[in-house]
Amino acid sequence: MQNATFRNRDFLTLLDYTKEELETILDVAFDLKRKRMLGEKHHLLEDKTLFLIFYNQSLRTRNSFEAGMTHLGGHAHYLDSSKIYTPAVEGREVAYSTERVSDVARTLASMGEGIAIRCYGNPVDWEYGAAHEMLREFAKWSNVPIINMECDKYHPCQGMADLMTVKEKFGTFKGVKFTMSWAYSPSVHKPRSVPQSAIIAAAKMGMEVTLAHPKDMELDPEVISACEQISGESGGSFKVTNSFEEGIKGAHVVYPKAWCATPIFKAPIGESSEEKTQKIFDANKDWICDSEHMAMAEKNAIYMHCLPCDRGYEVTDEVIDGPQSAAFDEAENRLHAQKAVMSLLMG
Ligand code: CP
Repeated sequence: MQNATFRNRDFLTLLDYTKEELETILDVAFDLKRKRMLGEKHHLLEDKTLFLIFYNQSLRTRNSFEAGMTHLGGHAHYLDSSKIYTPAVEGREVAYSTERVSDVARTLASMGEGIAIRCYGNPVDWEYGAAHEMLREFAKWSNVPIINMECDKYHPCQGMADLMTVKEKFGTFKGVKFTMSWAYSPSVHKPRSVPQSAIIAAAKMGMEVTLAHPKDMELDPEVISACEQISGESGGSFKVTNSFEEGIKGAHVVYPKAWCATPIFKAPIGESSEEKTQKIFDANKDWICDSEHMAMAEKNAIYMHCLPCDRGYEVTDEVIDGPQSAAFDEAENRLHAQKAVMSLLMG
């Protein structure tokens, strides 16, 4: 692979990257992780600035990007979208309150070497895909890389950290049974980006992927079709089940987390019905990952969660704090995976 492959590219979805390219990102991430453990300094992004625009809250994403830029000798500049002229696309503008994405993108690109954005849910009125389209609009106008820190469709940085964690625990992707499952949460407002990126990542690497969720909790059909096609190409497999137990049985990776149901979105894909969504959630409160469920998985199975999790709802304390939990490895790997992405794209 040529060195120039990554320079100045956007990182919006793992669908835009080949398996070989994702493997290179993982190689660099493991190398940077080892070097950090040995106390070696690698200022690959000295004097460079990454702007971080947040429309939503964050613990892991913000801090891993900020710490990562510090490790690489550069600077991460945090921007709260409500404290600047909020970047907005045409049709969502409000005079002297928002600023058109085309203008924000060109301005920041003239001052730094990368722009990272998190946006989903309320800031785009739960119009599925609107946040991703805004990121694409940023990418159209910016001549520096746009990095997706989680939109309403994808969370590619989380997907890379998930892959790193699986590789660390099993040493391979081949033959690994990866189950992404829905789990209950008292909040019906959770984007689909994490599960969608997780199944794309696992399919790209040729894992045996199972997606488990209750009826009416379906993910984006385009993502499902992509996973079916990618699995065929990568030598893995992909199946969907409506049974929590069936999904977990025999799995090596158990990744249960909540995501929102279709009715929460606005038409044409949803109805904007909170009540209907709440009913679907309430009917599936038994989708909680506890020790009995973990016992159904393979003996060496790991529990994964992107965090934050809803303890006592999505998972019991016993599981997330237990010996099979890889949730905190996953959180740390955000740092290493993103350092690799930033170094390759912005270096
Ligand atoms: N997993 C994840 O993206 O965490 P934050 O919401 O804390 O950034």
